[in-house]
Amino acid sequence: MKKLIIINGPNLNLLGKREPNIYGSLTFTEFLDEVKQKYPDVDLDYFQSNIEGELIDKLHDVGFSYDGIILNAAAYTHTSVGIGDAIKGIETPVVEVHISNTFGREEFRHQSYVSPNAKGVILGFGLQSYELAIQSFLS
Ligand code: DQA
Repeated sequence: MKKLIIINGPNLNLLGKREPNIYGSLTFTEFLDEVKQKYPDVDLDYFQSNIEGELIDKLHDVGFSYDGIILNAAAYTHTSVGIGDAIKGIETPVVEVHISNTFGREEFRHQSYVSPNAKGVILGFGLQSYELAIQSFLS
């Protein structure tokens, strides 16, 4: 059984309420329940924090034992050298995901400290981006 974790960064706890025109109206808990039912053979953990250091600590915690990390570092994607370095320092492959197509949005969202260190990047498919990332670890 594959052991995966979804790690969500700042403001993603507000999914369902936050800018629903961009991020949709489903809460992440609702989405996660659906995904867990759909992939019963995946051991799927979930962690969310609004605090950069907590995201780094979690990457360290899981980064030597899990089969895959699905990371939406949200706004820290565009600012955090520390998260980029953490991904370099761990062994577990990281797939970067974004709900929105960050390249179709403001210029500052085009920069990512995650992408150069990620196994791959999936963005712009709404919450389905996470599901595609899960599938990428199953093949
Ligand atoms: C996001 C895109 C980021 O630019 C933004 O700061 C987020 C969410 C996305 O999933 O589309 O908080 O990572």
